[in-house]
Amino acid sequence: EKGGFPSFMEKEIFDQPAAVADTLLGRADAEGRLTLDELRIEPEKLAKITKIVVLACGTSAYAGSVAKYAIESWCRIPVEVELSHEFRYREPIVDKNTLIVSISQSGETMDTLMAVRYAKEQGAKTLSICNTNGSTIPRESDAVLYTHAGPEIAVASTKAFLAQITATYLLGLYLAQLRGNLFSGQIKDILADLAKIPAKIQDILDRSGEIKDLARSMAESKSVLFLGRHVGYPVAMEGALKLKEIAYIHAEGFAAGELKHGPIALIEEGQPVFVVVPSPRGRDSLHSKVVSNIQEVRARGAKTLVIAENGDSAVKDYSEWVFYVPETPTLLMPLLATVPLQIFACELATAKGYDVDQPRNLAKSVTVE
Ligand code: F6R
Repeated sequence: EKGGFPSFMEKEIFDQPAAVADTLLGRADAEGRLTLDELRIEPEKLAKITKIVVLACGTSAYAGSVAKYAIESWCRIPVEVELSHEFRYREPIVDKNTLIVSISQSGETMDTLMAVRYAKEQGAKTLSICNTNGSTIPRESDAVLYTHAGPEIAVASTKAFLAQITATYLLGLYLAQLRGNLFSGQIKDILADLAKIPAKIQDILDRSGEIKDLARSMAESKSVLFLGRHVGYPVAMEGALKLKEIAYIHAEGFAAGELKHGPIALIEEGQPVFVVVPSPRGRDSLHSKVVSNIQEVRARGAKTLVIAENGDSAVKDYSEWVFYVPETPTLLMPLLATVPLQIFACELATAKGYDVDQPRNLAKSVTVE
């Protein structure tokens, strides 16, 4: 059932082209208009939304953080992303024009379920992005958008994460269509870029050997840092979480802009630092800022491990190791840049002899608060 792979986690990483393709399937009509029939919230109500609050935990919350950049850019609706357990125990401000978007692979995470129930009591509309048909959170929500990643067996989430990002992007485009924030041609272009993602992920998977070699050579690392900006920031957080969870290595993700506000003090000779670099074809300042961050940590002795876009010639001189991902618009980059970090964690944990599918102290679905 592992399809010839040594672990479910590795199989699920390699399932990702299909997870994204299946989540995109059947969401638009022949004219390229998004349909999302399964949503069950009247379009008039969605058009009136003044704020979106994303509620989730762990990896699913990082999918929400990625979604914030895209939805705010496409729909001009403010998006807050909050950990379900933090939301639940303060006095959050939500009302009938707030759309709660919960994200959960299992649909059974108690923290998220309680937060959704609470928001519903306050009168908010609730939409569940979920990978498990008929599970509790979608059943209790006003609307549901299923990710079609297929069952995820390994405790550490991989394919569900990419499917969640894909689903939030469909939601963002649907809202932009409904509210007239984007022209239909713009929506079609973004959908066409999304449709190219599965083949680009496959290209990364085909070159996984480069990442695995690096991972095996780093099996003795005591700490690994991850830096990113913009959508690369949640990717960095996710890269760090994967490493903690399955390889039991201390890992931290930072917004690259925060470096000089503290974390740069951690850098000493030989400290491995992954840096997720945005496209040089995107907003110019963003790319050059991240390249300066690579130089800053390298000048202090860091071993810089860089994820950059094909054709980015600016990073080579400052990197110990570079992995190139195919070109894609900046907002879609997390769907590619996350994959090498997943492979890295999986291979490093395997090299240390750990059971990557069943990491210590963790359960696949956390049904207690
Ligand atoms: C990380 C991981 C967890 C889950 C979190 C939420 O690899 O698997 O952080 O993402 O427990 O779970 P769901 O999405 O089922 O609500």
